[in-house]
Amino acid sequence: MSVNVLVTGATGTVGRATLSALRDRDVHAAAFVRDRARATHALGPDVELRVGDFSEERSLATALDGIDAVLLASGNDPEMRDHQLGAARVIAGSEARRVVKISGSPVSIAHAARTRTGTDHLAVESALRASGREVVAIRPNVFMQNFLDQSAAVAHDALPGPDGATRVSFIDAQDIGRVSAAALAEPELPGEILELTGPEALTWFDVAALMTKVLGRPITHYPAPPEVIRQGLLAMGRPEWQVEHALELSALFSDPQAAEVTSTVQRVTGRPPGTLTTFLERHVEDFRPAS
Ligand SMILES: NC(=O)c1ccc[n+]([C@@H]2O[C@H](COP(=O)([O-])OP(=O)(O)OC[C@H]3O[C@@H](n4cnc5c(N)ncnc54)[C@H](OP(=O)(O)O)[C@@H]3O)[C@@H](O)[C@H]2O)c1
Repeated sequence: MSVNVLVTGATGTVGRATLSALRDRDVHAAAFVRDRARATHALGPDVELRVGDFSEERSLATALDGIDAVLLASGNDPEMRDHQLGAARVIAGSEARRVVKISGSPVSIAHAARTRTGTDHLAVESALRASGREVVAIRPNVFMQNFLDQSAAVAHDALPGPDGATRVSFIDAQDIGRVSAAALAEPELPGEILELTGPEALTWFDVAALMTKVLGRPITHYPAPPEVIRQGLLAMGRPEWQVEHALELSALFSDPQAAEVTSTVQRVTGRPPGTLTTFLERHVEDFRPAS
């Protein structure tokens, strides 16, 4: 049976990866976007756009017309909770029978009391389950794509981050997109909670060594205490909530759960998760020093 999918957060990291994976499966997907012109630029001219905003619930209700399965994703800003709780209400009143929610990392969910995003994601998961729809909660570990936010430092051959003992099983967001597409399109549910990781747990020293190899110049990891991370992010103009979010998460990286490796990507997609080397090879240009 064919499925009609609505991808929210479509211009974001996971949304885009999911649209691309759905296209590979020949599944029709519409994109819920805030700005038609920006979305056309980001997604290309061939994607069906349904324009709306989570803060206007009627626009999501209209966008859900004829939709069987929804990807629920948005950024991790403080509005995420209210926006997605509103979306859960709208989905409960729609024809959609399945929702795939991009949730928090396993370690942030396990320590939800210590992270705003963990608490918020759990509240949304609960609301979706109460809606009576089939719910798949995807809980991915830290995205490899987060290193792109450090491209300016890497362009100067530096990789600041937590101390050397910290290990994280980073995941390529492309794999999250493939798992999301499978969860949206396949009649058999792959599971109600999917904890996704990359293939190996790496320290920031390991990451710097891989960057050195792939980028072809020495990249040095500098362990940065929280206050240095805070000042660095504020100097980059990051809003206070983003700084708090980064600090809350980096405090959890020393938990051994952040280093756990799961086989879920392989089980759901039939292929192993991508390595950091492959990710870096795809993004060599993004880390090139400014000439
Ligand atoms: N990064 C990590 O390491 C990590 C790890 C685990 C879990 N997660 C979770 O993964 C989720 C998805 O992250 P992401 O990186 O894909 O997010 P992202 O790249 O920041 O994208 C956010 C998306 O949400 C859309 N959006 C924001 N506000 C909206 C609104 N009011 N109405 C409609 N659309 C709106 C944005 O659209 P515009 O283009 O219009 O702004 C964009 O498409 C987050 O909830 C995060 O907590 C992230």
